[in-house]
Amino acid sequence: MKDILDEKDKRLRLTSKEVTFPMDKEDLKKIDLMVEYLTNSQIEEKAEKYHLRPGMGMAAIQLGIPKRYITIVEEVEDGFDTYVVVNPKIISNSEEQIYVEQGEGCLSVNRDVVGCVPRYARVTVEGYDTEGNKIRVRAREELAIAFQHEIDHLNGILFTDYIDPKNPMKNSDKCRPI
Ligand code: NI
Repeated sequence: MKDILDEKDKRLRLTSKEVTFPMDKEDLKKIDLMVEYLTNSQIEEKAEKYHLRPGMGMAAIQLGIPKRYITIVEEVEDGFDTYVVVNPKIISNSEEQIYVEQGEGCLSVNRDVVGCVPRYARVTVEGYDTEGNKIRVRAREELAIAFQHEIDHLNGILFTDYIDPKNPMKNSDKCRPI
């Protein structure tokens, strides 16, 4: 997938629009491609063969589509867990905050950015599957960060926005590193 927008692209700053059901066929196709990309990118052989940057999440706007749907593929012990959430919303969150110690990553940000991005350690996300059925996901740790990161994309926010370049570790005293 060569068409992932780069951080400089202004479309990444758009607020994506709510999706109505039934979903467009084109969007369903994109979702399949997104999931395929994310899965392959986390399989070393395939990532090398197809030159894929590894990533666990993608929002539609990263392909230039300003619609509210996200995909997350998380590597687990026996394979991958896949989450596709349309019109996702965080309905509750922990008080505890965490951050990725090595720095958060994004398929649209082609550089290493160090800094503390405060995220809730646990979130409950509500939304819809591609058929329009209501779904609810409870996420913690890395998966919780992925949901917050992808939902931010739908609101035109990049993880780099949270980092003060003059003091990148500013909020780290309030957050647990993972
Ligand atoms: Ni991202």
